[in-house]
Amino acid sequence: MKSRYVLSLALASSAFPTIAAARPAAPQWTAPEREAIAAWPARKAARMDPAIERRIAAIVRGMTLEQKVGQITQAEIRSITPDQVRQYHIGTILNGGGAWPAMNKHAPLADWTALADAYAKAALKSDAKQPIPLIWGIDAVHGNNNVVGATLYPHNIGLGAAHDPQLVYRIGRATAKAVRATGIGWAFAPTVAVVQNQRWGRTYESYSSDPAQVAANGRALIEGLQGTLKGDGDVLASVKHFAGDGGTFRGIDQGETRASAGDFARVHGAGYYTALDAGVQTVMISYNSWTMAGTHPFGKMHGNRALVTGVLKDRLKFDGLVVSDWNAIEQVDGCTTDHCPAAINAGIDVFMVPEKWQTFITNTLADVRAGRVSEARIDDAVKRILRVKFRQGLFDRPIAAGRYTGDAAALVDRPLAQEAVRKSAVLLKNDGLLPLAPGKRILVVGDAADSFPAQSGGWSITWQGTETDNADFPIGETLLGGIRRAFGAGAVTYSPDGSAFAPGKFDVVIAVLAELPHAEMKGDVRWPEPLAQSRRYPEQLALLGRVSGKGVPVVSVLYSGRTTYATDLINRSDAFVAAFLPGTEAGALADLLAGTGKRDFSAKLSFAWPSTACPSGGEPAGESLFARGFGLTYAHAVHTGTLTETPIPATCP
Ligand code: GLC
Repeated sequence: MKSRYVLSLALASSAFPTIAAARPAAPQWTAPEREAIAAWPARKAARMDPAIERRIAAIVRGMTLEQKVGQITQAEIRSITPDQVRQYHIGTILNGGGAWPAMNKHAPLADWTALADAYAKAALKSDAKQPIPLIWGIDAVHGNNNVVGATLYPHNIGLGAAHDPQLVYRIGRATAKAVRATGIGWAFAPTVAVVQNQRWGRTYESYSSDPAQVAANGRALIEGLQGTLKGDGDVLASVKHFAGDGGTFRGIDQGETRASAGDFARVHGAGYYTALDAGVQTVMISYNSWTMAGTHPFGKMHGNRALVTGVLKDRLKFDGLVVSDWNAIEQVDGCTTDHCPAAINAGIDVFMVPEKWQTFITNTLADVRAGRVSEARIDDAVKRILRVKFRQGLFDRPIAAGRYTGDAAALVDRPLAQEAVRKSAVLLKNDGLLPLAPGKRILVVGDAADSFPAQSGGWSITWQGTETDNADFPIGETLLGGIRRAFGAGAVTYSPDGSAFAPGKFDVVIAVLAELPHAEMKGDVRWPEPLAQSRRYPEQLALLGRVSGKGVPVVSVLYSGRTTYATDLINRSDAFVAAFLPGTEAGALADLLAGTGKRDFSAKLSFAWPSTACPSGGEPAGESLFARGFGLTYAHAVHTGTLTETPIPATCP
């Protein structure tokens, strides 16, 4: 049976010949493309609002080509002024990680809202028949993590371990308020990557290696962020990165994902069904490429028309806007940072061209005028952008009018973050040590114990989560602070490198270990480097060596953005806590260590914990020290004893 689309085209061409010319040609898919598309179960389209659609059509009819191309362009705040937004009819802006108003890391909230207002007002001064409101996107991926003073929640790897989508929903609500406090209306979250190899530098942005866990938490965050779309505490969500970001070969960031059509859809598509069912309004495309079953190279996702148009828009009936990633179009064959007709024809609607947005506009106008891109495709993109803006109510109520704009209290929710920290830390070992009784004399070692950057990880004030210090986190509690609070400051001695005091003078040692904060490709542990904490951070094994085996029990707490070989560290600990990246309220871990108020661990690993320093990816049972879903509690004590350590090779075979 002919698809509804083709039938309507046939009808239209007989009755009104000019209409047929206005519609983009129906794509003629190749056999591999048809195979790729068919692997995704079809979805029913959501009902559109005919009144909105009529308004959209009327606006588009009144737009010049320049105004349309400006509308599909997304520039970065370091590269565009409000007046240029007006002059070039820009539809959307963003700030990348580590970009703040006037590039002031400590920019007060008033500077954020003033800049947002300046851009918003400039867009409405456009000379278009119908000026179109601007939207500003920001990477609020664990709270509004760009703003000094904001609460940063545990990163997704820990939230996945909490197995509590309702908690994730509440974090979404809190994050949306925090984003609206800055006068911004769009969060580039959630990531619904289903990570298959923890070498990837973005593993911590993933909820789990289990597609079902990712789908449930992704949906919860979208519902939390978007609310009703029109409320003062609502923002647009951006489910990302479509698709296959978590499945690249050896976990290489922006690399090649090799999977059959079925596995690609079943594993890496899992988060998109629930996202679309949740009404997500934007989808961000992924940097990676996809080779189907290792034989058919589709190339980079940003040029993959079968997946972006054939699957996302036609088969899954996504009717919101599709946004590219940061300069990602340059990776498409034949494209550059500012010129990519292939990405436009693939079905992307908004182009994140942070710096070279002016030449992108010039090049795209030339593409349309030369017929390399149809105006119908541009119209489709503009209509989708307008649809999202109408759904967010921007034509009736500017973001700035929201009641949270400029409200510093909306940036913070300490109790929620503390709850999330307690629910996301996994107890891997406890040989009769925890919870610690009051009155213990405690030696705390490890510089991560008193480090907001270490406990927060990447995407924290800066892109990498580095070049920051405790002064950049005025609200929150380090684990050292929490231990002092829970046990009494007088009972706690702190020695960052563990050398200042003989452990024998204490009842217990708490050692806090960490990965260096990282984001994206800078966090990759590239094969053949062993994925072993003590190899990457030998000083931490040495630190444990100074305090372990001295007749005083040791609790180790590890901050990491991934599960990683650590059997040697676990064997030098009587108790071991995988805290992942708890954020600004890491001090709440102390309440678990103390059992304050009968608190107990509840988290279960969202990724398997490797027994080898050279994991092959995919978490095979033979490579797992602790399976996904493992986690001890005080209520169900288990004696772990000494685990078998596997040698850490100089390089992985
Ligand atoms: C980055 C990331 C993406 C982020 C975007 C904007 O490269 O891939 O997750 O939303 O750029 O900062």
